[in-house]
Amino acid sequence: MYESYYGLNSKPFQLTPDPKFFFASKLHKRAMSYLQYGLSQAEGFIVITGDIGTGKTTIANSLLSNIEEDIYAAQIVTPKLSPDELVKMVASKFNLPAEDKSKSDLLESIQKFLQQLNRNGKRALLLVDEAQNLPLETIEELRMLSNFQLNGKPLLQSFLLGQAELQPILRAPNMEQFRQRIVASCHLTPLNREEMQEYIEHRLHFAGCEREDLITQESFDAIYQFTNGVPRKVNTLMDRILLFGFLEELETFELEPVKQVIEEVKAEMFISKAGFVDERQQTHAAPAERPETAFITPNGNTIQDAKYYKEMLGELVDALDDAIKHKIKLTQYIDKMLKQKYQAYVRLKKDD
Ligand SMILES: Nc1ncnc2c1ncn2[C@@H]1O[C@H](COP(=O)(O)OP(=O)(O)O)[C@@H](O)[C@H]1O
Ligand SMILES: [Mg+2]
Repeated sequence: MYESYYGLNSKPFQLTPDPKFFFASKLHKRAMSYLQYGLSQAEGFIVITGDIGTGKTTIANSLLSNIEEDIYAAQIVTPKLSPDELVKMVASKFNLPAEDKSKSDLLESIQKFLQQLNRNGKRALLLVDEAQNLPLETIEELRMLSNFQLNGKPLLQSFLLGQAELQPILRAPNMEQFRQRIVASCHLTPLNREEMQEYIEHRLHFAGCEREDLITQESFDAIYQFTNGVPRKVNTLMDRILLFGFLEELETFELEPVKQVIEEVKAEMFISKAGFVDERQQTHAAPAERPETAFITPNGNTIQDAKYYKEMLGELVDALDDAIKHKIKLTQYIDKMLKQKYQAYVRLKKDD
C-alpha cells in the first residue's frame, strides 16, 4: 500500500524468511561460515538455536539457497511428532508412499531412497524447524535415521532449528550419543542497536529505497527500545510505521509519529509498559507442564495459582475486546484516508 509513496519496489519488511533480504550481522556472518563448514561435513547434525524471530529459519534458508552442491533438501516443521510419525513424515517428504506402511517398511524404503540418491551423486538434507517441540524419543529416532550409510559414507545430514528450549533437551544426560553427532551449532541472539539500524536500512535499500535520512536517530533508538533488536519484531513494527507514514503523508520519521505507532502496537499486543510480553510464556501456556514458570500479566503481575489464572484470563478477555475495538478503529481510519486520497486523485485528474 505504502510502497510507491516511499519509492519502493516491494514490501521491505515481509515476515517470510526471504534469502534476498538476508542481512549478515557479525554474528550472522560467523554463524553462517560455521554452518557452511558443518554442511561441508555432509553428516551428523547442525543445530541452530535462538529466541523466536532472531532469524533461524532465515539463516537456514539462506544457507540452502547458497549451496551449489546437489542436495535434496526436505523440510519439516514439527508439531509434537512421535518417532513413528517422524519416520512417516520423512518418507512422505522424500515422496515415498507412506500410507498403511509399517515403520520397518518405511525405514527400508527411506534407506533405499538415500542409497539411490547417493549413487546419483546427490545427498539428502533434512531440515527440522521448531525442533524444540520434538520429544526426546523422536530426536533419538532422528539420530537412528542419520546412521544410514553406504560404503561407510553417511547418507543423511540433518539441520535442527529450535528456540532456546531446545538447548536443555540436547543437554540431557541421555542425549550424549546425539551430542557426539553434532558437527556445528550456533545460537542466534537479537541485533544490537547499530546492527538493527543497519538491518532496517539494508531491507529498505533492497526494496528500492534511495533515501538515507528517512528515519531519525532518535526514532531508531525508540524502535530498538521496543523491539530489543529482534528482527521479527522490527519487521512488524517497521511495516506499521511505514503504513502510518503513508497515511499521514510523512516524508521523514521523527520521534513523535514513531512513538505513536509504538503505543498503538503495544495496545494491540497486550504489552505492559515494560515492553513485549515474553512470547514463550504466551505460546506455552500449559501451567500443569511448567509449574515452575511464573506468569506475568499485561500489567506485570505474577501469576502463581488458579485464582490468579482466572484474573489473567479476565484481563485477556478485556485486552482482546480492546484490540478488536482498536482494529475496527484502525480499519475505519484507513478507509477514511483512502477515500480522501481517492477524492484528491479524482480532483487532480479533473484539473488535468
Ligand atoms: N539476518 C536476517 N536478514 C534478513 N531478515 C532477517 C534476518 N533475521 C531475521 N530476519 C527476518 O526476521 C523475521 C523472523 O525471522 P525467522 O527466520 O522467521 O526467525 P526464527 O526462525 O528465528 O523465528 C523474518 O521476517 C525474517 O525475514
Ligand atoms: Mg523459524
